[in-house]
Amino acid sequence: MEILGIDIGGSGIKGAPVETETGQMLAPRFRLPTPEAAKPEAMIEIINEIVQFFQWTKPIGCGFPGVVRNGVALSAVNLSNKWVGYHAAARIAEKTGCPTCVFNDADAAGLAEVMFGTGKDRRGVILVVTIGTGLGTALFTDGHLLPNAELGHIEIGGEDAEWRASDAARKREKLSWKKWGQRFNRYLNTLCMLLSPDLIILGGGTSSKYEKFSRYISVPTEIELATMLNEAGIVGAALAGGICLANDEAVHSAPSRS
Ligand code: BGC
Repeated sequence: MEILGIDIGGSGIKGAPVETETGQMLAPRFRLPTPEAAKPEAMIEIINEIVQFFQWTKPIGCGFPGVVRNGVALSAVNLSNKWVGYHAAARIAEKTGCPTCVFNDADAAGLAEVMFGTGKDRRGVILVVTIGTGLGTALFTDGHLLPNAELGHIEIGGEDAEWRASDAARKREKLSWKKWGQRFNRYLNTLCMLLSPDLIILGGGTSSKYEKFSRYISVPTEIELATMLNEAGIVGAALAGGICLANDEAVHSAPSRS
């Protein structure tokens, strides 16, 4: 099935059509910057521009950087808090006219890795950690996702882990790779202590710089890099969209319901 995967982020919104049977993008991604205040209406305009760019009329799957339940955003740490309680799927479907599903972005990226990337054919507990402005996490057991895990916000040393160990923290505090790597290592070890994963997959933009901090990472489990890096968010959003459509959970815009 062809689905337009859209990765909604705090600095950019990007999308591409994806063949969900293979996890392949069918065209190069199209990216637009996220509007300054990151409010819902302005961001949905941008999402619609991406939909129009691909002249898309089929289903859409969106990855969103916060908790999402039944298409409604329940948190949005790095966006306007106007998103909280906002029915993202319904508003996007209304604006674009396309059946829409919305999920947490790290869950979406994790799904791409587990179905077609580093976690393919792996059993056991897989923890995917995406490192970017936020710290995203996705938790799988034998390929099944536990949605909205939000382990980026566990408290370590009395502080929110994301505030200390995200890439935004590295930039904000101008940390050396050593200093940041040590913090991130503490974060990963805390997750290992809590979850004993069989495999950790590191994704998100900063994972592509792994050679700069790998020497500071020492965890009692296997650790691998995501295969799809930049594309995982888009591909995963489309894959999640496919699953949601199959379950008849997509939100349809008013015209297509009649
Ligand atoms: C959010 C998560 C999201 C992650 C990556 C965090 O701040 O709480 O839901 O997955 O950022 O975007």
